Amino acid sequence: MIVDGVDVGILPLELLEGKIRFINVAKLPEKLVYVETSSIERLAEAIEKLEIRGAPAIGVAAAMGIAVAAWNSKARNYDELKRDVERAAERLRRTRPTAYNLFWAIDRMLKKLYVLEGEDVEKVVKALYDEARKIQLEDIRNNIKIGMYGAKLLEDGDVVLTHCNTGALATAGFGTALGVIRYAYKVEKKKIKIIATETRPLLQGSRLTAWELVQEGIPGTLITDNMVGYVMSKGMVSKVIVGADRILLSGHVANKIGTYTIAVLAKHHGIPFYIAAPTSTIDPKSKEIPIEFRKPEEVRTVLGKVRIAPKEIAVLNPAFDITPPDLISGIITEKGVAYPPFEESLREVLEK
Ligand code: MRU
Repeated sequence: MIVDGVDVGILPLELLEGKIRFINVAKLPEKLVYVETSSIERLAEAIEKLEIRGAPAIGVAAAMGIAVAAWNSKARNYDELKRDVERAAERLRRTRPTAYNLFWAIDRMLKKLYVLEGEDVEKVVKALYDEARKIQLEDIRNNIKIGMYGAKLLEDGDVVLTHCNTGALATAGFGTALGVIRYAYKVEKKKIKIIATETRPLLQGSRLTAWELVQEGIPGTLITDNMVGYVMSKGMVSKVIVGADRILLSGHVANKIGTYTIAVLAKHHGIPFYIAAPTSTIDPKSKEIPIEFRKPEEVRTVLGKVRIAPKEIAVLNPAFDITPPDLISGIITEKGVAYPPFEESLREVLEK
């Protein structure tokens, strides 16, 4: 798909009349499966099961879900519609606690609903559809800008290590950290190479990032998570770029479990460590980040298919960790790169 003259890759989410169409990324790389649903419960479960995942994609999907709930509502007046839309918003809010984009998008949709208080049902439904499509397009455009700012930090010969999946599949299109890589390689034709971590336990790196790199013809090498120290100690990595699920104004960043380990290793080896995320990931109010803990079976098995540990063993399964600001060289947003001290630079970025 081409947006503003740039190839933004595959579009994982589409808002249709009365339903949402999404790529079930849990099926990749084996199969590219599209799912269509008009059910908010099905959509919420898709987010919970990581059929739709990645902070920006979750936010866009929730916005689309709210629009779909409005479309399918039997409401005869504004108050009945408001009740149905709020019910959908509440269900979607309970899907995943860490990704700030989810709450940002739901709040933006509800704001649109509330400014239209007392208006005709049809007018409100149309406005919610327009808003969800706007959020989708904005996300793609923001990612292109993140790519543009981020690519300036890369040069010929760089080997960029990335974690989890931050590509088109994790967003409305183009990607964040992988968007920077895409922009540098495809638009600016920089001679860079990628190292992607597999990202245990749910393998977003090997299943999705590796898949996107192969689809796009970007040279990439896959490693297991415990090889990061090895490749860094051998001088095989020149930069790290990862995404984010929530960024506090203090510069603390929640991202996929293992990110903090990579940041510590990068600091030890003197390797610049960047975050790439849209400003919709910045939480301007919270002082702490809720971390999602997921089912033990995700760790005791490989994707629920192969048992690799006894059922009886206790397991810890935090889906995210927090990287403190002193390990972060810069945060690449659609409004430019924020550098330390982040309290100041992130505020500036938000106010732009
Ligand atoms: O559990 P996931 O797969 O939703 O976690 C995703 C990540 O941690 C990504 O790095 C983050 O959401 C940024 S995606 C552009």
